[in-house]
Amino acid sequence: MRALRLLTCLAVLLAMMGAAAPLQTAWAQQVSQSLDESGDPVAGNVPGGSLGNSSDSELWRAIRKGGQFGVSIPDEQAAIMVQSEGELWEEVRNGPLTFYGAVVVVGMFWLLVIFFFIRGRIKIEHGMSGQTIERFGMLERSLHWMVAVSFIVLALTGMNILWGKHVIMPILGKEIFATISMWGKYAHNFLAFPFMLGVALMFVLWVRHNIPNKHDLIWLSKAGGLFTKGVHPPSRKFNAGQKLIFWSVVLGGLTLSLSGVAMLLPFEFGMWAKTFGVLQSIGFNVPDPASVTPMMEMQLSTLWHSAASLVMIAIVLAHIYIGSVGMEGALDAMGSGQVDINWAREHHNLWVEEVEAEQGTAKPQAQPAE
Ligand code: HEM
Repeated sequence: MRALRLLTCLAVLLAMMGAAAPLQTAWAQQVSQSLDESGDPVAGNVPGGSLGNSSDSELWRAIRKGGQFGVSIPDEQAAIMVQSEGELWEEVRNGPLTFYGAVVVVGMFWLLVIFFFIRGRIKIEHGMSGQTIERFGMLERSLHWMVAVSFIVLALTGMNILWGKHVIMPILGKEIFATISMWGKYAHNFLAFPFMLGVALMFVLWVRHNIPNKHDLIWLSKAGGLFTKGVHPPSRKFNAGQKLIFWSVVLGGLTLSLSGVAMLLPFEFGMWAKTFGVLQSIGFNVPDPASVTPMMEMQLSTLWHSAASLVMIAIVLAHIYIGSVGMEGALDAMGSGQVDINWAREHHNLWVEEVEAEQGTAKPQAQPAE
């Protein structure tokens, strides 16, 4: 019985060796093919042939670098198997963009708080006269508030997209945060349209008052008298500070609109290859426009949209401060549209002169601007 078992084992062993022989021959062939005469691996071949005869390293490298292959379905994006820039995008968005964006916005908030405690509210030096002058008509004020309300909602909902999971979610919980974010996203998509329209109309309405002139240099050299009581550099309808706000809103609004629409209509149009082309032609060291894939277009648009909007939010925070708590009498301009003549003479003396000359209503008893 014992001898029979031994014989069976021997037979099985011999059979296995017989089956393995051809495999062993094939393996030996592979090894010999992957080595040159001196026994070194031939380029592209894996030593020992353990992973097959060829490592296909070139192929995998091309895939890792986002190489585009052929697909028979209409979505050509599917032909890119690995989009390595996605990792970089994520690192930038969740790293420096999230952090430095907060530094810019929160930093501006605290700067304004400090400024308020040092400088206090900027008063009308000669006090309210009780006599007013029309600063903005109904159309201008309606437009201002359309842009202001839409921008504030866009800013809050946009900041929620970037920081909400770090700030709101831990406080309100996942469910409430998800609901807020969903409605926030709808609001963000739809309010983009009144904002874009409003900025375009604002440009048409106010551009003629925002062309730089020689008074702006004087205004800037004295920092508009913001830090010194009793200093009121001459100014027409808008001073240099307001012109900076105006151009920030117009140019910031334009770039946010372009990058925003690029995200609303994914892969429909790209602006980065063209932008890099223009920048390259004037000597900037930017990525080669030909290397910008449709996916990179989208990634750059999201990063740029967030970064530009955070800078704009910081600028608008300063504007909101000076237009409300920071300066006595300013808010009336966008409220009733009528401002006190002493406020107007202190901050926009040349404009008051122009209006009075037009209307022939110069009032010698009102206080002169300093
Ligand atoms: C609660 C928020 C806001 C307040 C209290 C406010 C207040 C004001 C006031 C009082 C003026 C007239 C200044 C003057 O008479 O010389 C003004 C002008 C203006 N506002 Fe606003 N504003 C707010 C939000 C916004 C927003 C969100 C934007 C744009 C995104 C904006 C853009 C402008 C522009 C372009 C002007 C004309 C240039 C200037 O005066 O700086 N405002 N705002």
